[in-house]
Amino acid sequence: MDRYAVFGHPINHSKSPLIHREFARQTQQTLSYEAILAPLDQFPQALAHFHQQGGRGANVTLPFKQQAASLCDQLSDRARLAGAVNTLYWQDGRLYGDNTDGEGLVRDLCHHGIDLTDSDILVLGAGGAVRGVLPELLAASPRRVVVANRTASKAESLAEAFHSLGQIEGGGYADIEGQFDVIINGTSASLAASLPPIDSRVVKSTSWCYDMAYGNKPTVFQQWAKQAGARGQLSGLGMLVNQAAVSFELWTGKTPDPASVHELLLQQLR
Ligand code: ATR
Repeated sequence: MDRYAVFGHPINHSKSPLIHREFARQTQQTLSYEAILAPLDQFPQALAHFHQQGGRGANVTLPFKQQAASLCDQLSDRARLAGAVNTLYWQDGRLYGDNTDGEGLVRDLCHHGIDLTDSDILVLGAGGAVRGVLPELLAASPRRVVVANRTASKAESLAEAFHSLGQIEGGGYADIEGQFDVIINGTSASLAASLPPIDSRVVKSTSWCYDMAYGNKPTVFQQWAKQAGARGQLSGLGMLVNQAAVSFELWTGKTPDPASVHELLLQQLR
């Protein structure tokens, strides 16, 4: 049986085993998928051990995504740009790394009928999570991407790092000008139930707001978006399921149905 796993620390919260087992059931694949808690200082050893025991591929979550990228023999372009890997697989003894987070986000937006072509996108935050999705957001041909961050210099550096991929600007929250079609919260503020200091005037009645975080009720950012009069506010649960679908496709060549697994997770969270 083909073995897959997700590595992280902590890992017991991970929904990836449930998602991938559902995908396997849907597509009639015989595989196992487990959650592995790697010691903080022993991720490479844990990964090598998994491969020796027959592991074919793996997902990687916090805090190992950057380290995973450094272990690969070959990276996809988007993983190299992101400097982080969430999907690994071995082929002919070589370790390949990809980053499916951005495609997962863009697929979920697309699933909700949100077209990024020629759109104005505001991204809040400039940490690892944002870096991971910027290559795919820029590949979707928006009119412009504005990255705003508490520490403005980090947003400016990101804009500089990605400027060859499209129209991108970076700055602080006070520098944001205009209104946006899509506003994506990629800060870790949601996890602490707080909100980045953002003016609700960036929202228009046709804006979609997307929190890359999710919970068992709307996040503080989703609540803010509703108050601000956005057309819709989505949580990152759809991104989670869709990034998993892209990984599953890479590993098995089979196309699962993320929408039904999304529904299953929503029921679990309720
Ligand atoms: P991750 O891997 O989740 O992206 P990270 O790299 O530590 O984690 O980045 C966290 C991001 O959330 C940063 O953009 C951080 O802003 P700073 O760079 O200024 O620290 C942002 N963030 C965290 N808490 C925040 C808060 N309460 N308000 C605004 N931004 C916050």
